[in-house]
Amino acid sequence: MRVRVADTAVELAEGATVLAAVRAAGQEVPTLCQDDRLAPVGSCRVCLVDVDGRVLPACTTPAADGMRVRPQEERARAAARRALELVAAGLPERALAVPADRSELVRCCALLGVFAGSFGALPHRRGTDHSHPYVKLDRDLCIACQRCVRMCAEVQGTFALDMGGRGFDTVVVPGAGEPWVDSPCVGCGGCVDSCPTGALSEPGLLDPSPLAGTTRTTCGYCGVGCSLDVH
Ligand code: FES
Repeated sequence: MRVRVADTAVELAEGATVLAAVRAAGQEVPTLCQDDRLAPVGSCRVCLVDVDGRVLPACTTPAADGMRVRPQEERARAAARRALELVAAGLPERALAVPADRSELVRCCALLGVFAGSFGALPHRRGTDHSHPYVKLDRDLCIACQRCVRMCAEVQGTFALDMGGRGFDTVVVPGAGEPWVDSPCVGCGGCVDSCPTGALSEPGLLDPSPLAGTTRTTCGYCGVGCSLDVH
């Protein structure tokens, strides 16, 4: 099928989405809840574009032959910006300090012109979980997109993560809410890789685990029991 994205015509296979059309045209649409490894859910609304005069989410809208897509149309961009501002309002301003190559949120803010003043409308006291040697959680940066939960369950097949809390305090929780290190997490890193904000990250060389030098732990992959030092 043939779709026109702004001034560019692109050929797409049946089943492609509007997001695929825009990318095929060499243009970028901000996305937050979208992960190419997972079926799209269309929950964040920051990918809104104009499709034949209607404002629709690019990630969940199927492309159709003869469709005309305008990613930069101002009404769609304004709606996407408002959706992103709502996400930002629930985050501390330091969410913008995460390097752009580790934060889709930061890249979305740059693309849609959302700045520091949109952040910090809510108090942030959810705390952190640095108990695991390979995964650290900053709950205040969690936007409850569920990408990590779905990555753990649908791609990794571990089912170590879930969502907990209510309302604005809804965040990812490991297992039954125990410290991350005591959960069924196998340390595959899929959750960290899918996190769009940096709420989940690896303890870095310059940011060692608080357990450094004090703990011996056991890799969760096979249960043979080879232990390793946490540095
Ligand atoms: Fe499309 Fe979230 S990326 S709705």
